[in-house]
Amino acid sequence: MSAENTSLHGEWSSQLGFILAATGSAVGLGNIWKFPFLTGSNGGGAFVIVYLLCVLLICMPIMMAEILLGKRGRSSPINTMRNLAREYGHSTAWQILGWSGVLAGFLILSYYSVIAGWALAYVPQAAMGTFEAVAHLPQAEVVGFVSAIFDNLVADPWKLLFWHTVIILLCIVIVAGGIQGGLERALRFMMPALFLLLLILLGYAMSTPKFMEGVHFMFDVDFDKLFYPNCTEFSCEFSGQGILAAMGQAFFSLSLGMGAIMVYGAYLPKTTSITQVATIVVISDTVVALLAGLVIFPIVFSHGLQPDQGPNLVFNTLTVAFGKMSAGNFFGTLFFILLVLAAVTSAISLIEPTVAWLIETGRFSRISATIFCGLAAWLLGFLTVFSFNIWKEVRPLTWLMSEQAVLDVQPGDFVDKTWFDVLDFLTSNVMLPLGGLLIALFTAWFLGESVLKQELALGNRGYRFWRWVLRYVAPIGVGLIFLNAIGLFS
Ligand code: PFF
Repeated sequence: MSAENTSLHGEWSSQLGFILAATGSAVGLGNIWKFPFLTGSNGGGAFVIVYLLCVLLICMPIMMAEILLGKRGRSSPINTMRNLAREYGHSTAWQILGWSGVLAGFLILSYYSVIAGWALAYVPQAAMGTFEAVAHLPQAEVVGFVSAIFDNLVADPWKLLFWHTVIILLCIVIVAGGIQGGLERALRFMMPALFLLLLILLGYAMSTPKFMEGVHFMFDVDFDKLFYPNCTEFSCEFSGQGILAAMGQAFFSLSLGMGAIMVYGAYLPKTTSITQVATIVVISDTVVALLAGLVIFPIVFSHGLQPDQGPNLVFNTLTVAFGKMSAGNFFGTLFFILLVLAAVTSAISLIEPTVAWLIETGRFSRISATIFCGLAAWLLGFLTVFSFNIWKEVRPLTWLMSEQAVLDVQPGDFVDKTWFDVLDFLTSNVMLPLGGLLIALFTAWFLGESVLKQELALGNRGYRFWRWVLRYVAPIGVGLIFLNAIGLFS
């Protein structure tokens, strides 16, 4: 297969179509829910700096490479990798990259949809004015009130299951609608609206008494907080997990390393400038994440919330904000609707690689492929649904350990992970960076130079720099962060 072929699945109507879709994939729960809570749990500024470095030095060049592979291959990641490897005389084993993307997509979607379900569950709460009570409560009771709303939701597996189901159905409807019909239309109004609402929230955050404290938390760099998270009076233990989390988050937030961006690249019109679209997507995604942090932390500090409370951080913080701000019911309803939409436009890119591949086998229509994928992710989602209630105490990573060792496990230890934590760690911190590593190696070492030059149109110097980063900086960076995380340098 070569660049002369067009994609079996259709094309974006224009370059803008791709930018909207790729930004839609990148901007999602990762930016608004996950980035603030990881920043909060990993000590603030140092995490943000490492995150930004990973975005710039590792992820941006990989983003260009992933788009390029898709644009050349013009099919699902599995077939794109197989065909490109064959075309350039390499082993078709490279298609493993496509397969790991298929698996990662299911695993991520299974929990992503449950969290998107939380956001959906907050829509009626906001609309009915549940959060208003915050404005009338004494300060000391605010935290208890907002936590109770969240805890009530996640403690009930039936509620979670219900919202998870609705989200999966939404995804199925949109993906089944096809590339232009479903996606582009929804994204055109959604992304600007989400951005606007974040700015409104930022306005509120700036009016809180501790706005600057939030800013300092996000931008004052203290590496000790990242390297030595569990310091007590007597001991400090080094941990490379914070850096790994920052890198994993960079891949997750940019939807890299699993074929989502690759498959979107396959639908690109041939005249598109890869460098330009990649830059726009990376900047938009990063700005939204930083904005979300700037909204969340001032509110956290102004209302006595904890920055390191974990996955409930954004929900509890925003409940306070909407409870206190004027027209909070209206803005709250709108915000959670937009968050759900942002999540859905990301979720659909998680199954698109698999859907495209199933269609290419010739045995599935787009509709049946989508239903099949949705169903699989829905079933897998039970693991996450139960992680917050009936299986709250279950720690799968301890199953192979001796009884004595299990008794010694402390909260916060590596193995102290629920099913949800395991899925999140495995996908964001292992599978996506590994996928990215393979993409970097394949593109920079195994594709013909003329192809790369032609596709990137960067000029000689720019091209050499990009290839150097992809050949050496990105793979070595990813490798070192992995080794650091397993404690090799401690
Ligand atoms: N980038 C999305 C987010 O930040 O919410 C999540 C995601 C979508 C990750 C698609 C990976 C992916 F392939």
